[in-house]
Amino acid sequence: MSKQTLERILQSQGFGTRKWCSQLIADGEVSINDEIIDDTRLSLETNGLEFNVYGETWQYREHLYIALNKPADYECSRKPSHHPGVLSLLPEQFALRDVQPVGRLDHDTTGLLLMSDDGAFIHAQSSPKRHIPKVYVATTHEAVTPQLVALLLKGVKLHDEPAPLAAVVCNQLDGHQLEIVLEQGKYHQVKRMLAAAGNHCTALRRTRIGNLSLDDLNLAEGEWCYLDETQRALLAAP
Ligand code: URA
Repeated sequence: MSKQTLERILQSQGFGTRKWCSQLIADGEVSINDEIIDDTRLSLETNGLEFNVYGETWQYREHLYIALNKPADYECSRKPSHHPGVLSLLPEQFALRDVQPVGRLDHDTTGLLLMSDDGAFIHAQSSPKRHIPKVYVATTHEAVTPQLVALLLKGVKLHDEPAPLAAVVCNQLDGHQLEIVLEQGKYHQVKRMLAAAGNHCTALRRTRIGNLSLDDLNLAEGEWCYLDETQRALLAAP
């Protein structure tokens, strides 16, 4: 249980500076249970709080845990240069909460991308020590062969990597598609592994992280959802 003033609550949820939030309240733009609240210092229990700003209802969330079905042509970097950033697919106030992608997908890679403003969560999800499997479906230019699958499972040497990198699982899906499971997240890893194995990746989609599958989230490309505790627990599972 934790009580905070309404202006602080709005500020914590990304609606702007304290002064700006105070003005929003004074302007009658904030309501709770259909009642306009114009007392900026009103102290409220944050747990389970629902509030409405500019006619849209929000739930108080201490932290944000988000899954996005990333479309192609969006960048994960904080300062996108050639394409819009993935943050532009989320409500505007999330950027003010410092929500960031957990790891990166290339601009042309699609699929499951986690985003959060919880540093401990981001760190834990990104830690190589946790060996969290990430599942990708890669489309290849050259036909998939048993030799390619064997090579990716054995490991390929990448430039700047001291030891060969291997897929933990690699299944041929059809003539030009592979399911590849990796436990590391090196730069362009799937594409570089395929290139090192003599093929070329023409499309890449991340379909699962840990035991959380994109299919189970029912998100169209560009859509996102909050992840609850049960879904977050799946992320850690091997
Ligand atoms: N491997 C890649 O090559 N690109 C990605 O976006 C993710 C994994």
